[in-house]
Amino acid sequence: MPVLAVIGCQWGDEGKGKVVDILAQDADSIARYQGGHNAGHTVIVRSGQKGAADEKFILHLLPSGIIQPGKRCYIGNGVVVDPKALVKEMEEVESRGITFAGRLFISERAHLIFPYHHVYDQNEETIQGAKKIGTTGRGIGPAYADKHARVGIRMVDLLDDELLAKRLRANLESKKLLLTSRYNHPGYEFQAVWDEFMEYRKKIAPYIHNVFHLISDDITQDRKVLLEGAQGVMLDIDHGTYPYVTSSNASIGGACTGLGIPPSSIKKVLGIIKAYTTRVGEGPFPTELTGEQGNLLREQGKEYGATTGRPRRCGWFDGVVAQFSAKLNGITHLALTKLDVLDNTPNIKVCVGYKYGNRIYDEMPASLKILENCEPVYQEYAGWMSPTTGIDDFSKLPDKAKAYVEAISNLLGIEFAMISTGQRRDETIILKRLF
Ligand code: GDP
Ligand code: IMO
Ligand code: MG
Repeated sequence: MPVLAVIGCQWGDEGKGKVVDILAQDADSIARYQGGHNAGHTVIVRSGQKGAADEKFILHLLPSGIIQPGKRCYIGNGVVVDPKALVKEMEEVESRGITFAGRLFISERAHLIFPYHHVYDQNEETIQGAKKIGTTGRGIGPAYADKHARVGIRMVDLLDDELLAKRLRANLESKKLLLTSRYNHPGYEFQAVWDEFMEYRKKIAPYIHNVFHLISDDITQDRKVLLEGAQGVMLDIDHGTYPYVTSSNASIGGACTGLGIPPSSIKKVLGIIKAYTTRVGEGPFPTELTGEQGNLLREQGKEYGATTGRPRRCGWFDGVVAQFSAKLNGITHLALTKLDVLDNTPNIKVCVGYKYGNRIYDEMPASLKILENCEPVYQEYAGWMSPTTGIDDFSKLPDKAKAYVEAISNLLGIEFAMISTGQRRDETIILKRLF
């Protein structure tokens, strides 16, 4: 069973980092296929020493498997890499005793994020005002835009002085026009950017490889490959709540194009769903709770962005979104996270349709007007009102918690492989081993 994909089925932050960290224990290699350092994947590792605090890692570009010693980690061609952010993250992780030699491989086809991408991203958001997307401001969208406009600069170019100089000069010149006229920004001088990027190159160059070839070889050799999605299906550029989305394909198609692997090699697709819903940034969110209940979920779930620290918007579990994600990605198994966050919620709601005008939609509408103005149709479940934190055996869950889990599984017609009841690795119910 060579390839297992892990996909966030909501608006991101479903707990992919924790789940990937657990699965990585059984994997040979772990690969990121899209997004960039807009992602923030949290992994909490229990300290080996008695009484010592747990260790927390927040990974942005490095696959979460990097924490597991000896595992090979890939950054695929579909990822956009800000070398400054990558070097910073590598140094942070290295300072905690993790090494990269022989186990970190960055695709030579991955595109680079340059300082002008940040300026563009942040200034466009300011100009848009109330209509802003609420991006992470990391230059992700503009870097993907350059990739698609065929003016992007790739990792392989970073290794070629002549080509890099040519492409960088051309880009700085054309961007300067935009930066000065639209943002009143002076633009960037070639030498300063060159010198800065040469420093990053020193650190990154040894890790730039033909990742397609390496993964292809893993698949042929029947090694266990774990694909780590970033963001979530509703942030997918094609299938999400456009234009309030990110600029890559967070869904399963992105895994094939973002690494160069055939769809037929992906044998299992694990969909991660949070027991409720969150979203960071702007855009429609039909089950959002703006009052006290939303605040309670935010506080109990510590729902603050792992990348930007922004408070996450919180709401009830959205079955329309989850069913759509399940179909779109061919989800074969589910992982439910943050069940413990609902421990003190007396009545729990699950959205099973959107009412708009005379119609009830149970398929995901594309129209923002419908998504913004629909009334969610809810089914209600009695809360269990007792602690589930740390439970690692399904039979020990309160009956009402079991009923909630089973209701979601029945709604989607997919079995759970994992239920997460806390931040740590051991706070997990494993129902099925996927590798
Ligand atoms: P990702 O982007 O999908 O990897 O998710 P984030 O790391 O951005 O956000 C998930 C947050 O929930 C992190 O702080 C995790 O440590 C935490 N978390 C994951 N699973 C659980 C769980 O079952 N219970 C609780 N209470 N926290 C969890
Ligand atoms: P992980 O991998 C949650 C959101 C931003 C914004 C929109 C576009 O941790 O789940 P971008 O900077 O990508 O152009 O912003 O996408 N966003 C995320 N929301 N989790 C993420 O990643 C996200 N990455 C981007 O908040 O609404
Ligand atoms: Mg996150």
